[in-house]
Amino acid sequence: MRVAPKEVETFRDDFTYSNSPEAIKRFPFPFPEDEYRYSVNMEPHTPKGGEGSAYEHFLDIDEHYLSEMAERKLVLDEMPHRCLAMEHMELACWDMLERLMSSLAQDYSDYFKLTIEGDQWTWENKLLNIHDTFTFGDSSTLPQSPLEYIGCQVQGDFALLDQRDGDLFLDAGMITCPADWSLAFDAGMSFKEWHGPVPMAHNEGIFERALKYLTAMQVGSPIRRLNWTLTVNARMDTSPETYHEWGHERTSVTPENAGEKVYLRVEMQVMDRMPRSNALMFIIRTYLISLEDLATNPEWARRMHRTMKTLPAPLIEYKGLSRYHSMVVDYLAQFDPAN
Ligand code: HEM
Repeated sequence: MRVAPKEVETFRDDFTYSNSPEAIKRFPFPFPEDEYRYSVNMEPHTPKGGEGSAYEHFLDIDEHYLSEMAERKLVLDEMPHRCLAMEHMELACWDMLERLMSSLAQDYSDYFKLTIEGDQWTWENKLLNIHDTFTFGDSSTLPQSPLEYIGCQVQGDFALLDQRDGDLFLDAGMITCPADWSLAFDAGMSFKEWHGPVPMAHNEGIFERALKYLTAMQVGSPIRRLNWTLTVNARMDTSPETYHEWGHERTSVTPENAGEKVYLRVEMQVMDRMPRSNALMFIIRTYLISLEDLATNPEWARRMHRTMKTLPAPLIEYKGLSRYHSMVVDYLAQFDPAN
C-alpha cells in the first residue's frame, strides 16, 4: 500500500470522508468510451496500471481502510442480518477466509501475517490490532463466523454463490454498502432472479452470456468488471433497509452544490472460483469520488459529461438519478469544450 490508512472518517451524519490527491489519481474511472451502455464487460483480474494502482493486487487496501471497517461495524451492530450464510455454505466461507487472508498476507506483508501449522492458523492484522489463533474449519475457535470475521477486515462487500444445475444462487454474503439492493431480499435467488430489476440487459442477452462465462470459471483465474452509479453525499450504506435515511437526500441536490454533493460510485467487482466448495466468491469493492474531485482530471470530466448526457432514460430511472440527473449534466458541461 503506497498510501497509509487515514484516521477514521465518516460516511454518514457529518460526512467527513474525503479523497487525498493520491486517492483521486488512482480512482478506477469506469468509462472507456463517451457513451455508456450495459455490456459483458469482464476481464481477467490481473495487475494493471503499475505500483499503487487500484488494480495492482487481488484486494485493494487503501487510505479508507479504517473508515470502511468502522462503517461496517456500525451497520452490523444495528442490522446483524446484513451478514448471512445458509448452512450448506460453511465450507465456502472457509474457502473465502483462506483466499482473503493469504492474499492480504502476500500483498500487504507490513500489515497482515498468516502462519499455518497444520490446521492451526495464526492471523495478525496490525491495522486493527487483531492477533488470533484458530483451527481451520472449526467455527467455534473464531470469535465470529468465518464470513463475518474476515469480512470485517477487508474493504468491499462479499457474496458467496453456490453453483448447481448450471446456475448460481446467492446463498451467503456480507453486504453493508450496497447500491440500493438487499441481501436479505435476494438471498437464495438465482442469477437471473436477483438481476430481475435491471432494465435493457435481459433482452440484450447480457445475463445469459455472463452466466455461461461465470459457471465455467476455474480456480486460479479470477475476473473483474466495473459497475457504477451516482450517490448523494459520501454515503456507503445506500441499502433499501436504510432508505428512510438517504432517499430524501436526492432532493437536496441544487445547481450550486452538485459538484460537492454528488459522488460517482464505482464498484470494482471481482469473481473468483473457490477450491474446496466450488462456490463463486463475488467481491464488490466500492469507491466514492465527488464530481468536483473527479473534475480535477480534465479527461475524466469531459468523458463523464458525455456519458451522463447520453445515458438512456431507463438507466437514469433504474439507477435512481431522475431527480438530479439534469443538474449533473449541467454541472459537468463546463468541463466539455465540445459543449
Ligand atoms: C446489478 C449482483 C454479476 C451485470 C446487480 C444487482 C445485484 C447484482 C444484487 C442489483 C439488482 C437490483 O437492482 O436489485 C451480482 C452478483 C454477481 C453479479 C452477486 C455475481 C455473480 C454480474 C455480471 C454482470 C452483471 C457478471 C455482467 C454483465 C449487472 C448489471 C447490473 C447489475 C448491468 C445493473 C447495474 C446498474 O445499472 O447499476 N448485480 N451481479 N452482474 N448487474 Fe450484477
